[in-house]
Amino acid sequence: MTIAIRELGPGFAGEVHGLDMRDPLSGEDAAAIHAGMDKYAVLIFRDQKIDDAQQLAFTRGLGEIEHAIGTSLRAAHEYRLPTTFADVSNLDQNNTPFARDDRRRLFGIGNRLWHSDSSFKVVPAKYSLLHAISVPSTGGNTQFADMRAAYDALDEDTKAQVEGMVCEHSQMFSRQQIGFFDFTDEERQRFRPVRQCMVRVHPVTGRKSLYLSSHAGGIVGWPTPEARAFLRDLVEHATQREFVHTHRWRVGDLVMWDNRQTMHRARPFPAHEPRDMRRTTLAGDGPTATQATQAA
Ligand SMILES: [Fe+2]
Repeated sequence: MTIAIRELGPGFAGEVHGLDMRDPLSGEDAAAIHAGMDKYAVLIFRDQKIDDAQQLAFTRGLGEIEHAIGTSLRAAHEYRLPTTFADVSNLDQNNTPFARDDRRRLFGIGNRLWHSDSSFKVVPAKYSLLHAISVPSTGGNTQFADMRAAYDALDEDTKAQVEGMVCEHSQMFSRQQIGFFDFTDEERQRFRPVRQCMVRVHPVTGRKSLYLSSHAGGIVGWPTPEARAFLRDLVEHATQREFVHTHRWRVGDLVMWDNRQTMHRARPFPAHEPRDMRRTTLAGDGPTATQATQAA
């Protein structure tokens, strides 16, 4: 038997039934999941009682893993999880919630802005798979916005304006938006901007989408204030209520999203409560734009 997918919203977000991630992933189910992702861009799997090894095996059954190395403010000895996982929890290596003013926590609050995972990398992420180990008593939802619907709803002038547009993305740009400027010289070097195209074309469906992210802080050839105002307008357009699905987490949920076709953001929750979420990530196929150093 293969999986069944129940649509949660019009053409966006599906709930998957008939799959237990403790079992090996069949080729048939992997193909059905990819087809579901092409259609819905967000898939929800409830009640997955898996450990890290099983999440990793399931992820690898769908493609090549992206490693999380040097993408946070955790020092090497502060890692709680291996680099096959992105640790998007609020926990230190002893599983204790960060103090409210800990800069690793404050950096993580950047995830409350609309973004696409790893858009700050030359080769940005394809899918993210987030598994809930523990959830706070209130809040902590994740919201998703459909960047295909957002593109379709643009007026023709704006579609022409964004065609061929290239943006600069950096984790420093997203953190600056929330007043976090506290970067060391080493971090400034590590987080230097990369270039991404603004309009992405899905390799299977051919649908266009807006490749927006809070990490985008510049448009190549544009003055910075004008670029940031334009990007802010586009994000406002793209995150209107009709394009957004809210996921309310339960322990055991695994949610998979396509970073090429969606943005997402975490919602606030009490600072002292643990929120243990473990993300595996599938690598993208390649760069979306020529980089500044290559173009020179
Ligand atoms: Fe994220």
